[in-house]
Amino acid sequence: MKVVLVTGASSGLGAATAAWLAASGHRVYAASRRGSVDPLSDAVPLRMDVDDDQSVGDGTEHILLREGRIDVVVNCAGYGVFGSIEDTPLPMAQAQFNTNVFGVMRVCQRVLPVMRRERAGLIVNVTSIAGELSLPFQGIYSATKFAVEGLSEALRAEVRPFGIRVVLVQPGDFRTGFTDARRTVPSNGGAYAERSSRALEIAARDERAGADPQQLARLIARIVGSPRPRFRYVVGPAAQEWLMRLRHVLPGQSLIARHFGA
Ligand SMILES: NC(=O)c1ccc[n+]([C@@H]2O[C@H](COP(=O)([O-])OP(=O)(O)OC[C@H]3O[C@@H](n4cnc5c(N)ncnc54)[C@H](OP(=O)(O)O)[C@@H]3O)[C@@H](O)[C@H]2O)c1
Repeated sequence: MKVVLVTGASSGLGAATAAWLAASGHRVYAASRRGSVDPLSDAVPLRMDVDDDQSVGDGTEHILLREGRIDVVVNCAGYGVFGSIEDTPLPMAQAQFNTNVFGVMRVCQRVLPVMRRERAGLIVNVTSIAGELSLPFQGIYSATKFAVEGLSEALRAEVRPFGIRVVLVQPGDFRTGFTDARRTVPSNGGAYAERSSRALEIAARDERAGADPQQLARLIARIVGSPRPRFRYVVGPAAQEWLMRLRHVLPGQSLIARHFGA
């Protein structure tokens, strides 16, 4: 039985992961701003805003007071900004980095001292295939996921001597609340308006036809149970898993640009 913190667990991939791990017998804290969990889930709801230092501090402290340790963290909280890079207001891009990148860093900085003390731990960072192949009109979102990939590569080496493992999970398209929660940059009929609204329709269509979140939950449960997990996993629709496997052979970036009509 492991003590697990899953962020972004009121919806989608985080909710499915928290429920799956709790059903497997782990003690799971399901964190989000709403602080809600599915009524059928055995995960313990926890209110935590990863944008806010105090909230992350209070949330992790709450777990430590009750359990004395945190063995596993799944950093899943996040959302997407959609729009051309030229049109994206800087505060919107900064807010996107604050949640998707600094949210991960805030949580890691709180749990690492505990994991170092225990000389064990697992941090699973949920990025995206957009963390390796940037998506047109999702450039800021993709940049946050590239950033988490970079941060995780270094973190992995830094914490390895303390018995702590860092794993990246790169989802393709999944049917979750992500599509409706997306924040869209107003294009106001500008130079990118037509192409970006077509790309937005394609992205939303792909996500709504995407994989079942249980597929990712199952993978994360396998990672949690593995004594020697790999560093990177791709998960999602088969075509996207293949694209990632062949990305150094196929012109992945051009295929993606063409897919989004960019
Ligand atoms: N769905 C996909 O196709 C897809 C593909 C690749 C990667 N991903 C990544 O997977 C992760 C989960 O997304 P999802 O698809 O499951 O979307 P989702 O259904 O919208 O879930 C996002 C979760 O993040 C939480 N969240 C957002 N901002 C937060 C904050 N500041 N503090 C704490 N929690 C916050 C939301 O809860 P509250 O609103 O209650 O806080 C919600 O529980 C994201 O990092 C996303 O980038 C998704």
